[in-house]
Amino acid sequence: MAAREEIFEPTVEQTYEFFKYLRSEHREAFIDLLNSIRFAELRGAGYLSYLAEVLDDPSMMAKMTKHAADEGKHAHFVTLMIRREGGQPRSMVHQNLFRAMSEARGQRGDGGPPLETCPPREELVEVFASMQAIERSAKGAFQAFEKLYADDEVVLSMVKEVLRDEEFHIGWISKVLDRWRADGLGEQVDDALERGRRALAEARDRSIRAQIEQATGAAS
Ligand SMILES: [Fe+2]
Ligand SMILES: [Fe+2]
Repeated sequence: MAAREEIFEPTVEQTYEFFKYLRSEHREAFIDLLNSIRFAELRGAGYLSYLAEVLDDPSMMAKMTKHAADEGKHAHFVTLMIRREGGQPRSMVHQNLFRAMSEARGQRGDGGPPLETCPPREELVEVFASMQAIERSAKGAFQAFEKLYADDEVVLSMVKEVLRDEEFHIGWISKVLDRWRADGLGEQVDDALERGRRALAEARDRSIRAQIEQATGAAS
């Protein structure tokens, strides 16, 4: 396997410091950040709902259905967080992150058509690997929110519920990926995980840069 370039993945502490800085110094940018998380949760719920319907394994369908429901609930929780911060949810359809996330999931820029048949195994490996990258990154963000909202019981209870859900999401995806590894797809799984992490790091890079530029008033 070729040597891979290091991917920067912020620690929970770094993420917390960044969120704290935005929240205290640049409120609008912080609300935009929450809004982009709201969007990612809701879009995840929509995509996973389609995926649940075409999987050819009833046990995977059942887990994917719970997973989609959880992501929809997270979108609702983050919307409540936005309003608690004095903001409102805003459409992300015309933002770059919309395209970046679609690309990270291997979809067309506009989200692509609803799935009608179960994607072939190689494609499912890509999808599950990028889901795993997204789940791990979401877990880190919510661990940072857990610190940020330590003195707000209402938000904290939602954040803790999200973190419990993320454990389930990461766990069941890991089991599926391990099963595919046992079926001899180890290299595809590992390559797809790496691509998922990289695509997400790039999308995060772009969106954080946009937040900082917006917060500091720099031209983009
Ligand atoms: Fe979520
Ligand atoms: Fe999740």
